[in-house]
Amino acid sequence: MAPADQTRKAQNDKANSDKAASDDIASRLLDWYDAHHRELPWRITPREHASGVRPDPYRIWLSEVMLQQTTVEAVKSYFRAFVEKWPDVEALAAAPTEDVMKAWAGLGYYSRARNLKACADLVAARGGRFPDTEAALKDLPGIGAYTSAAIAAIAFDRPAAVVDGNVERVVTRLFSIATLLTEAKPEIRNHVERMVPSRRPGDFAQAMMDLGATICTPRRPRCMLCPLRQDCSAILSGDPERFPVRLPKADKPQRRGAAFVAERDDGAILLRKRPEKGLLGGMTEVPTTAWTARVDGASTQAAAPFSANWRRAGTITHVFTHFALELEVFHAHIEGNAPAGHFWSPAPEISGEALPTVMKKAIEAAIPGATKARRV
Ligand code: ADE
Repeated sequence: MAPADQTRKAQNDKANSDKAASDDIASRLLDWYDAHHRELPWRITPREHASGVRPDPYRIWLSEVMLQQTTVEAVKSYFRAFVEKWPDVEALAAAPTEDVMKAWAGLGYYSRARNLKACADLVAARGGRFPDTEAALKDLPGIGAYTSAAIAAIAFDRPAAVVDGNVERVVTRLFSIATLLTEAKPEIRNHVERMVPSRRPGDFAQAMMDLGATICTPRRPRCMLCPLRQDCSAILSGDPERFPVRLPKADKPQRRGAAFVAERDDGAILLRKRPEKGLLGGMTEVPTTAWTARVDGASTQAAAPFSANWRRAGTITHVFTHFALELEVFHAHIEGNAPAGHFWSPAPEISGEALPTVMKKAIEAAIPGATKARRV
């Protein structure tokens, strides 16, 4: 054989054996998924899937948007409440944005809720069917590279490469990828693309997520139970936790401020709406000072938006993506009309307001139990 042909043959042999190894990995993973998949409210089981049941794209889309920056545990109850209230995309499109924001309150990253509603409106206006390709899904509001791949794979069984944090961890360990994670993304994607099977790509994507969430965990992975231990090069090194490789996290800057919980004698609380744009855009809040980086942040009752007999009720903390916040909470009883730009929320309605978690914490510090569901 001529040297050039020999090289080509060697390359072909290598590609074939890589492909066979990838197929084995997918097959082992799918067998494991059949036996050990998580039961999740938006999911159909592998058995249902095999018998011809198809997932509802609306439920897959809704769950994937909710899961974008939020844990599975936190999402479950929100998902159930949403599908009970709005069982399909037309119902969600018909709902007032205000109601969607209220139902989303506490899930965080509120621009997701606004995009969710915009996407529902668009899909409903186009006849109520979600597009079934990664590219067309990505054109919809709030659907980026990850979410379009996840919906295409899970809802429509498209062989899309679905790469979230769990998958990154599994792949960097499988192949001992020692490059900094931020730079390793193309390499990780290549591996996933190679592994995605043409049969059951949706189950494969979910199996990778489940493996990352339950076995290949960030700390103390349970390698003895892993269906891919024979394929995993990190296990050989004895230190799988070393992957993925990241830079140490920088400390978050600290901001401070004060929050003012004004209560009427009938239990109503004075609230206002935040500006549509910016952090917690369009959500509801108790009056607060600006949140400043100054150590002496305005945390005295002198900073109150109106005078009252303000009493110190405690301090709450909340961690946002880009900073940590400490709010000194003040409480007062006041009567009369709400000042301009504010409104009284009657006690039975407070739990249903679009209050982000930080605001619920502030109200709870002043009036324990006030934000919990109450019977009207
Ligand atoms: N995280 C993101 N999408 C998910 C899904 N469909 N199942 C489990 N965890 C997920």
